[in-house]
Order: sequence, then structure tokens, then C-alpha cells
Amino acid sequence: MKKFTLGNSKEQVLNMIPKQSIKKVLVGEHKIALLRIEDNFHAFQASCPHRGASLLEGTFNQRGEIICPLHHYRFDLNTGDVKAGSCGDLEIYRTELKENGLEIILP
Ligand code: FES
Repeated sequence: MKKFTLGNSKEQVLNMIPKQSIKKVLVGEHKIALLRIEDNFHAFQASCPHRGASLLEGTFNQRGEIICPLHHYRFDLNTGDVKAGSCGDLEIYRTELKENGLEIILP
């Protein structure tokens, strides 16, 4: 398990990542996607487990699912479970917004 901290403060992270946006973040050697919904952050693998489309171009719905732009498979942002489609689950990473930045934990 590896812990990374994005930014230097909570305010910096909130300013850097606007609400309802998905950003690419390099964490060590991993390129991951970071989605902010209101003040909640979801970190997950940036490429779709189906055929590798970029989830940075994805959309999300009110059920807390990220939707792939290519074949519209849906993945639960809290568990990574595939909700529509047939492929492996999405890798998700735990995040915690702290006073010194956003902590992201990779396996
Ligand atoms: S590449 Fe994502 S659903 Fe097919």
C-alpha cells in the first residue's frame, strides 16, 4: 500500500479541482483519474477495464457511477463494480481530504 498526498492544503486541492470535474493525476508512476462531486473525491484507474477508453472523458450520474464514453459501461465509484456491461471491475483508490492535501492510497 502506498500513500500519496496531492497538494499542500485542503484549500489548494479544492481550488485545483473544480466541482463536477475529472482530472488526470500522476501518482508515482500511475496515471489515475480523480473526480470531484461536490466536496467528495473519487480516484480510479484512468482507462476503462473494457477496451481501455479514457475515463477522463467519461461522465457520471446521480447514482455515483462513472460512465465510459466509448460503450457506455457503468462502474460504481465507491466499489468499482461494473454495473452495466461485461468486463472486469474498475480499480478504485481510497481518498481522504485532509488539512495538508488530498491523500490517495494505492494498493
Ligand atoms: S471501452 Fe469502456 S465501455 Fe468499452
